Amino acid sequence: MYFGADYYPEHWPKDRWKKDAELMAGAGMNVVRLGEFAWAKLEPEPGSYDFTWLDEAVGILSAKGIGIVLGTPTATPPKWLMDAFPGIYPKDEFGRIRGFGTRCHYCHSSPDYRRETVRIVSEMARHYAGNPAVVAWQIDNELGNHGSTRCYCDTCRAGFAEWLRKRYGTIDRLNEEWGTVFWSQTYRSFDEVILPGYSMVDGQTAHSASENHNPGLLLDFYRFSSDSVISYQKLQIDEIRRHSKAPITHNFMGHFSDVDYFGLAKDLDFVSWDNYPTNQWGTSDCRSTAFAHDIMRGTGKKNFWVMEEQSGPCGWNVMGESPAPEQIRLWTFQAIARGAEGMVYFRWRACTFGIEQYWHGILGHDGVPRRRYNEIKRIGEELPGIVEWIDGSVPDTEIALVKSYEDWWSHQIQPHARDFTYGRILQNYYDACWANGTGLDVVSPESDFSKYRVVIAPALNLMDNALKERLEDFVASGGRLLTTFRSGTRTKTNRMTEIPIPGYLKDLTGIEVEEFDVLRNGRSVEVSGKEISGNATVWCDIIDPGKADVLLSYREGWFRNRAAVTENTFGKGRAVYVGCGLDPAALAAVVSRIMDGAGVERWVNRGVPDVEVVRKRNNGRRALFILNHSDELREVTMDGSYADLLTGEETKPRIELEAYGVRILVERIAP
Ligand code: GLA
Ligand code: ZN
Repeated sequence: MYFGADYYPEHWPKDRWKKDAELMAGAGMNVVRLGEFAWAKLEPEPGSYDFTWLDEAVGILSAKGIGIVLGTPTATPPKWLMDAFPGIYPKDEFGRIRGFGTRCHYCHSSPDYRRETVRIVSEMARHYAGNPAVVAWQIDNELGNHGSTRCYCDTCRAGFAEWLRKRYGTIDRLNEEWGTVFWSQTYRSFDEVILPGYSMVDGQTAHSASENHNPGLLLDFYRFSSDSVISYQKLQIDEIRRHSKAPITHNFMGHFSDVDYFGLAKDLDFVSWDNYPTNQWGTSDCRSTAFAHDIMRGTGKKNFWVMEEQSGPCGWNVMGESPAPEQIRLWTFQAIARGAEGMVYFRWRACTFGIEQYWHGILGHDGVPRRRYNEIKRIGEELPGIVEWIDGSVPDTEIALVKSYEDWWSHQIQPHARDFTYGRILQNYYDACWANGTGLDVVSPESDFSKYRVVIAPALNLMDNALKERLEDFVASGGRLLTTFRSGTRTKTNRMTEIPIPGYLKDLTGIEVEEFDVLRNGRSVEVSGKEISGNATVWCDIIDPGKADVLLSYREGWFRNRAAVTENTFGKGRAVYVGCGLDPAALAAVVSRIMDGAGVERWVNRGVPDVEVVRKRNNGRRALFILNHSDELREVTMDGSYADLLTGEETKPRIELEAYGVRILVERIAP
């Protein structure tokens, strides 16, 4: 287990560094992340490098037993570099240059920037390769942040043309797949193809100034942009690996979806991410944070680190809520429950200058250890006692939830309904599993489904025969699939199929969607069936069930008594099709039915509000993490016999959890 802080020695006088290292060691810390924005300090003049200050900081910290995660400083190219190669600046949809003054001010495709990147990374990697204090590398910082994934410069236009040539081979094929016959968009060569920049803005629904372009063009441009970020990261990874054996990570951003995180993760040794549950921009529901942890574990297909964990009130111009006493500890245990093996708090001490002056860390501006430091110190004392439930211990999961980044983009380009987002529907199904007292793995559409009892694939829009067959094989051999409206209706080139809806999933679901209706402005329609009733929201598919069983039907409106939710037997398994949005209780009931049918085990009696339960295993043993996210006392009723790992006591069937309280309960195996 790694436990530490994000530290910026360059922001403080040298004579403070030793005291910081002592305070860190005093809190049980064994790691810091350094260097990720320090290019101008590491190379103050072109070609003249200065590692002396960083060497000194590394020396002081490692003397206290603190290892180093070394960040490459490429998120902030210095002014002299930008002046020398102004073509590095990215361009926005309007063709405007995004200039100097913040960060991420570079185009990932720029040959100048790629060359300069390799140069600085190579210098750093060679300098620190032999230093045993360096326990890992971090590439750049939050790749794609601040809207930097998609750039509309000339380099990107030429790069996109090359990318398309590889994908389609001939321009005729591209024209056919995109349907450029529509509105005279036919291209005669790849060099003619545009980037989907400013053309027309529909002020009511626009997520960008380019959303009304050809959907095939947009989706491919989003793919190309994501690939360009992934290959930019790979460039750095390859250069570091030439010199250093230390593992390499990158700090992801949880739910962020401009870059395909499955693709970004595959070149790394492990995934890490930055978690701020409450900050200047808003406060996350505990289930949203839990989901983000699970996405991070899913993208790397194993345990991960939190490279930046909130440790104070956060904001740039204004601040969000201050973490209440015990809340940082709660977030720490939530991360560990879901697979974190490294916890690094952002930041060690609030800075007195720069736009992040208000982004508070463990220490405030005055550097005096107070409440937050003491809380983290206590966590540092607790962790060694639970290490069996951290390193190599993973959550128990029998359900897979499919997250597809290209489907995210396709739905973002055309959300189908005003109140629909792909992120929201994924979260709704995540919450339904949570309400049923179990957990899940987040997987890509390319994953092996066979190890799961249930696969939940909401709004899986883009499909081809290969994916269709893999889903059919999964169900035919006994799996349970849950899918929803809009699934299977489009090709991978983002055009509608001609197969009756649900398109590629027609055989598997056994149904035909004859028509549909959009429910706007929060409108809902009553639905009911033998066991379940509730309300349809957002969208209603009007289904001819064919030979499938009808689980729910609409009870209002012109499609009253038509099927809304169906279940079909296919080979040894079953496929449930949910043709509408559902209120949380009805959705949880549908998911519960599938879980029961598939024999999925529940970790806990369902449904204590704001209480999170995760079951982890290690070496054949199992433990429950129980986390109270509310600021009030909560009671949880337990089956089975457990020992409380933090107190050593035997637990009673009814547990009282104080505000933000945490329990780790180890299952007693019956004699
Ligand atoms: C991100 C970044 C950090 C810092 C914090 C606070 O997570 O990675 O460098 O900017 O946000 O804004
Ligand atoms: Zn560019």
